[in-house]
Amino acid sequence: MVRIDATGGTLGEVSSELLAIGLHKGESAPQELAGATGPVLSNGDFSGKEGETALIYAPDGMASPRLLLVGLGERTSFTLDTLRRASAIAAKRARTLKLDDAAFVLPVSGGSAARVAAAEAAAEGAALGLYRFDRYKTNAQSRELGTFTLVHDDEDKVAGGAGTGLKLAAAALLARDLANEPSNTATPEYLAEKARQIAERYGMQATILDRAGIEAEGLNGLATVGRSATNEPRFMVLEHHGGEDGAPPVVLVGKAVTFDSGGISIKPTTGMEDMKYDMSGGAAVLGAMEAVGSLELPINVVALVPATENLPGGNAFKPGDVLELHSGKTVEIVTTDAEGRLILADALSYARRYEPAAVVDCATLTGACYVALGDHASGLMGNDEGLISEIQTAGEASGERAWRLPLFEEYTEQIKGNTADLKNSGGRYGGALTAGAFLKEFTDYPWVHLDIAGTAYYGKQKNAYTPRGASGAPARLLVEFLRGRSRNSQVGNLIGEEA
Ligand code: BES
Ligand code: MN
Ligand code: ZN
Repeated sequence: MVRIDATGGTLGEVSSELLAIGLHKGESAPQELAGATGPVLSNGDFSGKEGETALIYAPDGMASPRLLLVGLGERTSFTLDTLRRASAIAAKRARTLKLDDAAFVLPVSGGSAARVAAAEAAAEGAALGLYRFDRYKTNAQSRELGTFTLVHDDEDKVAGGAGTGLKLAAAALLARDLANEPSNTATPEYLAEKARQIAERYGMQATILDRAGIEAEGLNGLATVGRSATNEPRFMVLEHHGGEDGAPPVVLVGKAVTFDSGGISIKPTTGMEDMKYDMSGGAAVLGAMEAVGSLELPINVVALVPATENLPGGNAFKPGDVLELHSGKTVEIVTTDAEGRLILADALSYARRYEPAAVVDCATLTGACYVALGDHASGLMGNDEGLISEIQTAGEASGERAWRLPLFEEYTEQIKGNTADLKNSGGRYGGALTAGAFLKEFTDYPWVHLDIAGTAYYGKQKNAYTPRGASGAPARLLVEFLRGRSRNSQVGNLIGEEA
């Protein structure tokens, strides 16, 4: 990963192979750069529109041989996400130019909290933007940008923020790597091995159930979906004990169907290759745990990742079958392609043993959610107003937006079973909501469900820091949420100590 430094000093003094500076629409460059930027601005070649760039060589009176202007758009609509994109644009341009280092003037006014947040976002943007999944390209571009320096006088705060930003990015990059990996390598056992490595790195407790363990635990949804697969299912449990002993944990649950063919209710051929991404929820949860460990968050966090393939076969489950899930509820199979909710239901009822403070699950669960929100937001459903708004806030802050969808009682009616308690599909209409309503049946704690079918991966580049392929979402949202919980728990501790 790229190194991020911080430096102060005047812009003329900064000595880097490329100095990038963001400019808002209609605004001129700082005084020191007036000479260098005069011609390109007065000729109207650069307006400051978001995403626009202008490269200036041998700029007047500057130690850096190249100056890159990066458009930041309107000042009034500027957010941390604009900054992530701008930083990504600068870092990627430097790499395209085959440079070893580049500097980026951190566009921030405001106090130390704003500086730290801006440094985090700039570091995240650069690291996320520079990502590429090229391990299977036999002539991969090996050239990488070495150092990206953030220019700001508050070097300490900026360096600290950049360090955090890189850890947040690392969470998403791990999630991307796992999800981009094809299903012939990214098997349930492969993910389990990654989970063990995270646990090892950060002193977490790992419990990995194999097929026999899954059956013994009564995780029948997972056992049933995974029954006909040669690559056996796994159930992963990671426990991070960062908080007080016995303090109720936050539980993260991630769907990890390493390949979803639909099973006996087999999917059409077109686009089926994308179903290697059907483990993106699990990938995001493992990515988030990486950051939970590296940031040493002072709370208790548990990750549950049910992992399996969904394949047809002589031993596969079939439409019409009835099974008893981990919770004891029975479900009638309408379609073997609604497999995600079966394995999540087991994980959600497994989560009860922790008497959790909150549970957040994420899953590429329904095409219907993709249809409803497009690829611009994850679907968000839940049973607790406070938790819902925490997740919405974390989504905004991280740039991994989530939009609330309803869980009316009528959706639950739609999935009442004929021969069993529930059926695993409520039909075409309201497909994202009936899936959410299904999951709700297995929760008795504050819970939020994120449907990431539209946001977990992209067929073409989504924005400057989100290339084609797995986005890593919602790993950074989850970490942002957990950081919020950590701050609150520390405030709680301080109050407790004073009392
Ligand atoms: N993994 C799919 C959902 C999906 C579809 C994710 C497209 C990403 C892109 C899920 O297992 C599935 O097949 N869902 C069905 C449910 C239906 C059969 C009730 C769907 O959405 O069609
Ligand atoms: Mn499916
Ligand atoms: Zn699926």
